[in-house]
Amino acid sequence: MLNPDDAALVATQVGRPAAPPSRRIALDLYSGTGNATAAFRTAANWCVVTVDNVCDASRRPAVLADARRLPIEGRIDFLWASPPCTEFSDANARVPSVDRRPSLEHIFATLDAVRRLRPRFWILENVRGAIPFLGIPVQKIGPWCLWGYFPPITVTAELAAHRKKPFRSAVARATVPNALSRAVYQAVETYWDFPRLLDMRSMRRHRHVARATAAGLPFTAADDGR
Ligand SMILES: C[S@@+](CC[C@H](N)C(=O)[O-])C[C@H]1O[C@@H](n2cnc3c(N)ncnc32)[C@H](O)[C@@H]1O
Repeated sequence: MLNPDDAALVATQVGRPAAPPSRRIALDLYSGTGNATAAFRTAANWCVVTVDNVCDASRRPAVLADARRLPIEGRIDFLWASPPCTEFSDANARVPSVDRRPSLEHIFATLDAVRRLRPRFWILENVRGAIPFLGIPVQKIGPWCLWGYFPPITVTAELAAHRKKPFRSAVARATVPNALSRAVYQAVETYWDFPRLLDMRSMRRHRHVARATAAGLPFTAADDGR
């Protein structure tokens, strides 16, 4: 078993700067290239632990493990999870979306990690094809749908308009861009000492508008609960 206090040790073993236990720990689950937490990795006050079950030319996780049997205990500060999207992906045209019955095993593994490791903020990233199963994302930035508990992420218009290029490799398409990693890092740092400032009203409104629109009803401010 790996304790968060050992995270620095793990990081050192894979050649990253040693971090004292006092540093905040970010866990990057299903880390792939590790790009989602790239901005955290360059910050002096963070130690990042990446977990993936593949180690190859583009993926070099600190912990090589199956995320469904995560060998990490204790408490962490931030969790990012990008579980495989193949069971949700619209690109998976062999199965019509109405007939899809995803196992959700990686989603449950992520939620289990959140429950056990109790990060202050956490983000589960996936594709829009997961919306019928996970509900409306807290934030959608370009093709990246984000669920979880995290502060509002400020992004550039360019990132919001980003489209994944279909001709690129699966690893390249799944890679979280540096600009998104930086924006997430900025949001987490900005709200770190003020987690209660998170304002959920806009999310409620978002959901109500979607429901009202789907039902063909006009949306009124009263529905907003404000
Ligand atoms: C969508 S990609 C992650 C992309 C990543 N966020 C990035 O920026 O590169 C999903 C990753 O999950 C990994 N994976 C799949 N099944 C896994 C499992 N059972 N345990 C851990 N990692 C797994 C894959 O090897 C792949 O790298």
